[in-house]
Amino acid sequence: MTRRIIIDTDPGQDDAIAILLALASPDEIEVLGITAVAGNVPLELTAKNARIICELAGRDDIKVYAGCDKPLGRALVTAEHVHGQTGLNGPRLPDPKMPLQDQHGVDYIIDTLRDAEPGTITLCPLGPLTNIAAAFTRAPDIVEKVREIVLMGGAYFEVGNITPTAEFNIYVDPQAADIVFRAGAPIVVMPLDVTHKALVTPERNAAFRSLGTKVGTAVANMTDFFERFDKEKYGSEGAPLHDPCVTAYLIRPELFSGRHINVEIETSSELTMGMTVADWWGVTDRPRNAMFMGRIDAQGYFDLLTERLARL
Ligand code: RIB
Ligand code: CA
Repeated sequence: MTRRIIIDTDPGQDDAIAILLALASPDEIEVLGITAVAGNVPLELTAKNARIICELAGRDDIKVYAGCDKPLGRALVTAEHVHGQTGLNGPRLPDPKMPLQDQHGVDYIIDTLRDAEPGTITLCPLGPLTNIAAAFTRAPDIVEKVREIVLMGGAYFEVGNITPTAEFNIYVDPQAADIVFRAGAPIVVMPLDVTHKALVTPERNAAFRSLGTKVGTAVANMTDFFERFDKEKYGSEGAPLHDPCVTAYLIRPELFSGRHINVEIETSSELTMGMTVADWWGVTDRPRNAMFMGRIDAQGYFDLLTERLARL
């Protein structure tokens, strides 16, 4: 059954590829709308980058909304050191012509869920969870309308990428993450434990580039740019392609496996702020609230990505 989804995003080269994969897969995914959130770069840029990506895919019909411009209760932390000043460094892409929608992204999420039948909308957060948490707080009645939240964020065995203990999306807005993980909607988590096993090796990058299309070249230039940070830090052989794990799951869930466990968020200690405390070994009786992924068929993931991007 086709997934009807809202993508909540802070593009970000990996967000961009996740959006392209969704737009290349209309048989499995109907993108109802895209809401931008402050994260990798400030909101003005994430809202602009989301439109640049839609136009790259030839989809200037997609409705893009600007959401929250800062976390619920903390100052915004951005990641230009990873994604570049524009957040989409690497490819040379034209400024968007398509307009931003007037409605605030949080209002769009609330209205779309309120108008939907229960359990029919999948939320796909690819950045900090500020917009989702704001919507759930303002309109708790919408939680039951959510079929599933499939998000990129957190880490257990991989621990942190922005601090020693926290992954960036959760770290930027830990309060929001706590609200979302406690809300009661079914959650599938794509943590660093999975995304760090999905590296854009030179061969995989060459496969994108050899598509010889505008999209293939842009994607290859995106991953060429944003791999610097991880290669330097982890000595890895390429960038971990985080966010497309979310949309790949909607198309081929069998590429992933994990455990249904309790996951709670550190929101008080500055030392471990934003840590996803995942009870992977079942040592507590805390409620199991998340399907926390641990394994990925990495080559199957890249084969799917390359095959689908060729369609655009
Ligand atoms: O930690 C990786 C996550 O942070 C990805 O979603 C990346 O786009 C950034 O938002
Ligand atoms: Ca992101």
